Amino acid sequence: MRVAGVPRRTIWRAADGVSVDVIDQTRLPHEVVEKRLATLADAAEAIRTMVVRGAPLIGVTAAYGLALAVRADASEAGIRRAVETLAATRPTAVNLRWALDRVAAVLLAPEVNDRVAAAYRLADEMAEEDVATCRAIGEHGAELIRETHRRTGRRVNVLTHCNAGWLAAVDWGTALAPIYAAHDGGVPLHVWVDETRPRNQGAALTAFELGQHGVPHTIVADNAGGHLMQHGEVDLCIVGSDRTTATGDVANKVGTYLKALAAHDNGVPFYAALPLSTVDWTLRNGVAEIPIEERNAREVTHMTGRAPDGAIVTVEIAAPGSPAANPAFDVTPARLVSGIITEKGVVPATPEGLAPLRP
Ligand code: MRU
Repeated sequence: MRVAGVPRRTIWRAADGVSVDVIDQTRLPHEVVEKRLATLADAAEAIRTMVVRGAPLIGVTAAYGLALAVRADASEAGIRRAVETLAATRPTAVNLRWALDRVAAVLLAPEVNDRVAAAYRLADEMAEEDVATCRAIGEHGAELIRETHRRTGRRVNVLTHCNAGWLAAVDWGTALAPIYAAHDGGVPLHVWVDETRPRNQGAALTAFELGQHGVPHTIVADNAGGHLMQHGEVDLCIVGSDRTTATGDVANKVGTYLKALAAHDNGVPFYAALPLSTVDWTLRNGVAEIPIEERNAREVTHMTGRAPDGAIVTVEIAAPGSPAANPAFDVTPARLVSGIITEKGVVPATPEGLAPLRP
């Protein structure tokens, strides 16, 4: 997608051919700054501190992180250590484990004699695959938006939570891919963007992306969604996912569940858009089984933004000394999900709906 009219991706091979460059998402929307990842430690730190974030992008960054690791130590023990280092960075997004297992399996196969070349080749391939997958999610999901427009004959209002756009993937995104595809295809639409406290991925990242692409949108406080739905201002919700069970329970940024409850109460269709690499086929009960990342309480008690003099500053917004908790994700049970938009099509959020897509 474009930034200031220039096509960009979130991650790419640096000019030196071995390092990896990423857009530093902690600086958006105020500055578009790149960061170079030259070592395993750089890649792990970038994932942990959310320089890169969003399940698909975390997976691709981890694949490049392994490539950077094998440059320094291509032994089997070194690869296994690197896998564990990267896997420990963010527990909820299952694409991380999926990517690491996939790269490690190739590197540890007996027939591979150049592990460094093989790791880079596979990471490049996974980045390209991610783009194709997200584009396909966009095409399938756009049909839901088109169909809503045909039915209502007016502008389609879509509500989304967090950032599941191109910044959460290599390009296109998951939940925003259908929005881009429908918008580019001439369907009149408007997006309600949940600000997404505590880290504000909606206000900072989703709004930035949509603005750069010329998609009409409005940022709303996280708590506004129910009110908008009660007043007929939302035609459908589309969110992403960090991990979805084989039964269709969807883990996504905290607050997603509350939107699904409000959507259910108001008869608003609620879709999750995700690549099949986000499905954890080993799990059946999302609430009980999906590990929820608990992040630093400082993300709740403090906020970062741009001061009038242009400086990026962090300020305290909570009563000093009050404890805060920061679960980063929640699980929306399958019964509240109207359908799952995947690269292979839109399927019911049920074991029967998902099973035929199992790789
Ligand atoms: O903590 P983040 O920013 O990595 O979380 C990302 C999300 O939860 C997004 O909503 C998203 O849907 C999953 S990634 C496409």
